[in-house]
Amino acid sequence: MSGSPRTPRRPNGGRTVSRLLADFGHDLPCVPPVQQGAREARLFRHASRRGPRRAGGGWAPAPAPVSAWRMTSDQAPVLWPFISTPGLPPTGAQMGIDMLSGGAFYADPNGWILDDDVPVTNPNIFSFGKPGRGKSATTKAFCLRMTDFGYRILVLGDPKDEYEGLCRFFGVEPFAIGHGLPTRINPLAFGPLLQGWEQLDAAQAQGRAAVVFGRWLTLVRGLVGSQRIGEERVPFGPTDEVVVKAALQTLTGYAHGQSQLTETTIPALWHLLDNPTGDLVAKCRYAGERHFLDDTRLLRDALGQLVGGALAGLFDDHTTIDVDWSAPIQSLSLSRLEALGDEQSGSR
Ligand SMILES: Nc1ncnc2c1ncn2[C@@H]1O[C@H](COP(=O)(O)OP(=O)(O)O)[C@@H](O)[C@H]1O
Ligand SMILES: [Mg+2]
Repeated sequence: MSGSPRTPRRPNGGRTVSRLLADFGHDLPCVPPVQQGAREARLFRHASRRGPRRAGGGWAPAPAPVSAWRMTSDQAPVLWPFISTPGLPPTGAQMGIDMLSGGAFYADPNGWILDDDVPVTNPNIFSFGKPGRGKSATTKAFCLRMTDFGYRILVLGDPKDEYEGLCRFFGVEPFAIGHGLPTRINPLAFGPLLQGWEQLDAAQAQGRAAVVFGRWLTLVRGLVGSQRIGEERVPFGPTDEVVVKAALQTLTGYAHGQSQLTETTIPALWHLLDNPTGDLVAKCRYAGERHFLDDTRLLRDALGQLVGGALAGLFDDHTTIDVDWSAPIQSLSLSRLEALGDEQSGSR
């Protein structure tokens, strides 16, 4: 058997398995030689994706389409019922039912973010729903229940005065602003940003001033822009910004490098722009007082309208309320502004 044509040698001269066995007397059966002219019919044949092309073979003129489904978020959970967010721990106030698990739902937004095991990174909550579905009622229940867990309530603006009942429950009188009421809120107050100003070095004071004056400019831009000439809003361009900023810096004493800054008001701003000092005119790069007055007429009149009109008796003097940060609730009732129309919307 050795040297037979059916037991080939390896290219490197080694023996194949059949050769090895043959050398020890075990001849393996060989593949029978193919007989010329008698080809067997092939068992499997390649077919295209549309199937074999033959009569009655079920050939499709187009490949089967992928089925597409569209559904609302109401129906989607039926197809993907097992996807849900991980549950939240039962800390804080019990607020209702977790509709996914059927268990009780507890709310503790600040606790959630303080605990690294809870996958919540932001304590803010939005409440969405059609009118009359209970957003306000749930929010009030939430506020009330959270007070038991060290939370305090601050209602920055209550257009419908709906938190007044909650305030009175806690024995707190809500702040109310409106014509004829003594309450004033000065939008140009420094707030907590004035604390420790005299201890700041020059760079720190500059940084903090940038924040304060930036906020005030945004406010004045909103107030001026709330006025209209026909359909158009009164413009507040870069030149107006320069003028208002310079005037505010003069009024607060920042322009003169004072270490103790003075709080100013919108009427004081208007008054200074109406009676500009030589310093202010020069600082804003006007040729003279006449040039200043002509160029700022629209800005001055817009501020004057606010002081004499919509803002009169509301935001036109130093703040008269003192927020008690340790009280269980503080609220600013705004319903009395309703009758004044849209002009206050910038300040609500
Ligand atoms: N869970 C509730 N069960 C019964 N009545 C409710 C519930 N939540 C709210 N309401 C009532 O439904 C009405 C509308 O609720 P409200 O909270 O004012 O709705 P929204 O603020 O979403 O417009 C109110 O009269 C309120 O008392
Ligand atoms: Mg509501």
